[in-house]
Amino acid sequence: MPVENDWLCVEIECRKHSQLTSERLWEFLAEWDVLGINESEAEGATSWKIYLPAQTSRENFHTAFQEWLTQTGLDPQSVTVGFGLVPRENWNEKWKQFFVPVHVPPDYVICPPWAADTNGFRGKVSLIIEPGMAFGTGTHATTQLCLTMLRTVFKAGMTVLDVGTGSGILCIACAKLGAKWCLGVDNDPLIAENAALNLRLNGISSEQVSIAVAELSAFRVHPFDLVLCNMLPQHLLPLVPTIKQFLSLHSFTVVTGFLEAERREIEEALSAHGLRVAARDCLGEWGGCIVHLV
Ligand SMILES: C[S@@+](CC[C@H](N)C(=O)[O-])C[C@H]1O[C@@H](n2cnc3c(N)ncnc32)[C@H](O)[C@@H]1O
Repeated sequence: MPVENDWLCVEIECRKHSQLTSERLWEFLAEWDVLGINESEAEGATSWKIYLPAQTSRENFHTAFQEWLTQTGLDPQSVTVGFGLVPRENWNEKWKQFFVPVHVPPDYVICPPWAADTNGFRGKVSLIIEPGMAFGTGTHATTQLCLTMLRTVFKAGMTVLDVGTGSGILCIACAKLGAKWCLGVDNDPLIAENAALNLRLNGISSEQVSIAVAELSAFRVHPFDLVLCNMLPQHLLPLVPTIKQFLSLHSFTVVTGFLEAERREIEEALSAHGLRVAARDCLGEWGGCIVHLV
């Protein structure tokens, strides 16, 4: 019987000929509350340990995973899936083994609090993030792509709206780069504690960054200089008319969270709302674009 403090560990092992990669696996995992992931390779075969809240249904996970493998043209026979419970006492130590500092272009270093090294971060934009219930530990390609892309348009003194803020990582980056004020909005109450902790860990005040658990439509409309949207297309697209209300002719919007394979569909949808693509980039299979009002 799972107790609140246990974690469900899903072990996925690939046979040698499997086409499953970490990036592809993240496509599937984007819908799950992943608390941590550990990848290892032995004799040319890759395996992952994925940690989820203990109450996650093994049956639902297994069925959804098999369906996703088939839909994406991957052979379900090339992968084995096992489940186990990890007591939290062990987890606390395991956790630390696989969250190591990550360098993201042009000059970010993202790390958990226990690996924060003030001397080693000189000249870097350090983002100290406690891995928790909120998406945005910095290990995901979509977060990294958004961090990199925003630098091409960011200027100190900007106001920033981060739609789907998760851990608050994008707001923290903008605050450290000299934003005037950032508002991070997310409709998942689970992010609140983690985002607040991350602001404290980075020495950022609530005057610099406000985090709100709410729907974007709840806010008084006024333009932001920069809007960041790292969200899955099914969450982003219904929000575009609302997001547009927060843009002026001088605003830039960085959109990530979609696959390169979905780029055409996403850009057409943005264009139908009067948003023109000014720049494009990608990281692995994940795509990003910067748009502005026309
Ligand atoms: C992919 S995560 C991005 C987290 C973080 N900004 C990052 O870049 O790592 C997307 C976030 O959008 C949030 N979200 C989804 N639909 C939303 C909506 N309608 N309004 C606000 N937030 C939403 C989710 O709860 C999730 O935290």
